[in-house]
Amino acid sequence: MYRKLNNLAARPTMTMTTDTRPRAYDADADADATSARFAWAITGSGHGLAESLDIAATLLPYVDLFLSRAAEEVLPLYRIELAQLKQRFRVFRDNSASAVPVGMLYDETRYHTVVVAPATSNTVAKCAFGISDTLPTNMFAQAGKLGIPGIVFACDTQPVVITKSPLDWVELRPRNIELDNVERLRQIDHSRVVCSPAELRAALDARLAETRMSSCASA
Ligand SMILES: Cc1cc2nc3c(=O)[nH]c(=O)nc-3n(C[C@H](O)[C@H](O)[C@H](O)COP(=O)(O)O)c2cc1C
Repeated sequence: MYRKLNNLAARPTMTMTTDTRPRAYDADADADATSARFAWAITGSGHGLAESLDIAATLLPYVDLFLSRAAEEVLPLYRIELAQLKQRFRVFRDNSASAVPVGMLYDETRYHTVVVAPATSNTVAKCAFGISDTLPTNMFAQAGKLGIPGIVFACDTQPVVITKSPLDWVELRPRNIELDNVERLRQIDHSRVVCSPAELRAALDARLAETRMSSCASA
């Protein structure tokens, strides 16, 4: 997939001693880290949130979650608590300026695909313009640079979007800028945009078939 420069940087090392600074993720300390899996980023979108999580759960145990800070705020508004998620998934939070968990993508045996689902119009815009300043946008950008395929479930893809707010159903009319950003995102290398839970499911199934084929080929 991508060329790993083992001699230059075999594994991240950090010599910092205080707990207040970010630590490199230690793959060896993780007993479950044996099979490549999906890295699944969740952003602060109510639209498609429950559906995305339901689909992610079908991939267990081969999926880990990476939350944006907005996702952490929005999840409980839809009655999904972080503690609940942690009972089922390994969850990585956006609590470092440099998106420390992104370092796990450099271990090519660890994640074969990065999914961003659901993706807010904010995250879509950032991904489309190469901005990476949150955990999901960093996962997406770094995956692209490593040649790891990305799948983005964009929320605002239709002229009219009916979505559930925490209190009620609402009708949104995405502006041209949101629709244009989705089109721009479609041009980004190594990534695929999907617009509904059904398309997301189909893209994941296709990716699973590809990864099975490549593991058969390398066996
Ligand atoms: C209850 C709630 C629901 C939201 N739903 C959406 C949504 O469906 N789509 C969207 O683009 N933004 C939505 N937002 C706004 C985003 O959370 C906000 O733009 C945030 O800055 C996105 O950050 P992120 O892209 O880093 O996750 C919602 C916010 C709240 C409080």
